[in-house]
Amino acid sequence: MSVLITGVRLYGEGEPTDMLLDDGEIKQLGGSLVAPEDAEVIDGVGLVALPGFVDLHTHLREPGREDTETIATGSAAAALGGYTAVFAMANTDPVADTVVVTEHVRGLGARAGLVDVHPVGAITLGLRGEQLAELGTLAASGVRIFSDDGHCVADPLLMRRALEYASALDVLVAQHAEEPRLTGGGQPGGAQAHEGPTAARLGLAGWPRAAEEAIVARDCLLARDAGARLHVCHVSTAGTAEILRGAKRAGIHVSAEVTPHHLFLDDSRLVDYDPVNKVNPPLREHSDIAALRAALAAGVIDCVATDHAPHAPQDKDCEFAAARPGMLGLQTALSVVTETMVRTGLLDWRGVARVMSERPAAIAGLPDHGRPLEVGEPANLVLIDPDASWTVRGAELASIAANTPYEGMTLPARVVTTVLRGRITAHHGQITRTVHD
Ligand code: DOR
Repeated sequence: MSVLITGVRLYGEGEPTDMLLDDGEIKQLGGSLVAPEDAEVIDGVGLVALPGFVDLHTHLREPGREDTETIATGSAAAALGGYTAVFAMANTDPVADTVVVTEHVRGLGARAGLVDVHPVGAITLGLRGEQLAELGTLAASGVRIFSDDGHCVADPLLMRRALEYASALDVLVAQHAEEPRLTGGGQPGGAQAHEGPTAARLGLAGWPRAAEEAIVARDCLLARDAGARLHVCHVSTAGTAEILRGAKRAGIHVSAEVTPHHLFLDDSRLVDYDPVNKVNPPLREHSDIAALRAALAAGVIDCVATDHAPHAPQDKDCEFAAARPGMLGLQTALSVVTETMVRTGLLDWRGVARVMSERPAAIAGLPDHGRPLEVGEPANLVLIDPDASWTVRGAELASIAANTPYEGMTLPARVVTTVLRGRITAHHGQITRTVHD
């Protein structure tokens, strides 16, 4: 079945054009295209077309915590958020440290059929940071990114070995940069909030910026020596951006992501101790937010990744110290990026395509995503309404969990339609491809 999109502006630039999708490709672009008899026609007037978004960092919670998200519901959230490919983090139960688990995740993603779900493999067995997982076997099965996200690979020798293997296997190591000796590593009494005046006033144990920066600096040096590609997860401090700038200048193959929430929210959100704002790494200060936005605009930070982290009510509606860190992100990412980067003049829509689609696809080595909107390219794309606004309600999001920090906020821009290989997956807030049971 073909799809004709009429009067849409590619990257929000130039004159409106029609776009014919067929055989999973962009078949024709131009004025007044004629739709084949059976074509589905989408009115694209006022909309902007971008390549489908790619999320390098999402927690889909299956297997193990299907009470908070499944691969089917997470895929629906991704499609509704404009994503055509996502990477599902390895901190599931069981951990994705074997091909059995990664293939299970991949298979469930294919079955849901709404977004390409790529499993991330664990770097260490059980995420315990003691012994490497079978990186070669996992890589041979098609795993491209390895991460212990949620935990840092703190042992420098183990991290060095992981990078050496990654270099030989041509895969990416994505580090959750957190020196556990400086944060308490998630243990009782450990850090709860950014170390600064707000945490001091609230009596919350502080999480120093140096806990992140020390690991990023160390890992850049280890990646340099191993000739490996390193990816830094959820950058949260101005200092990390400076370290990345220096490492890139020195020719080290390092890439980095920033989350929408670290571009938007600061630690003053913690004043009422609402655990919905508890996240790892923590929300930081205005000065960090300004530096992260500037670094993303300049390409020092390569891309936006959601760190979509669904949590059950009992793990969030509790005492701050007992609550789990993390927040939903897939369906709000575009709006938060629009608010923080587009409305501020730091990025235009072509820039949004770069940080939400092209760079993450290139970092992950996905040949069919993040491609230019040109004839002959795969029809993986998103149509957005740049002038729309909407009010976020956690209960209305597709995720099973509802832990959004944007509850009740009115945010700009909306995903109207998402297309995966020429098939509409989401349209006006509805999933349009049947999710298999
Ligand atoms: O806030 C977070 N939540 N940060 C992480 O690194 C892990 C994630 C989770 O799995 O909940």
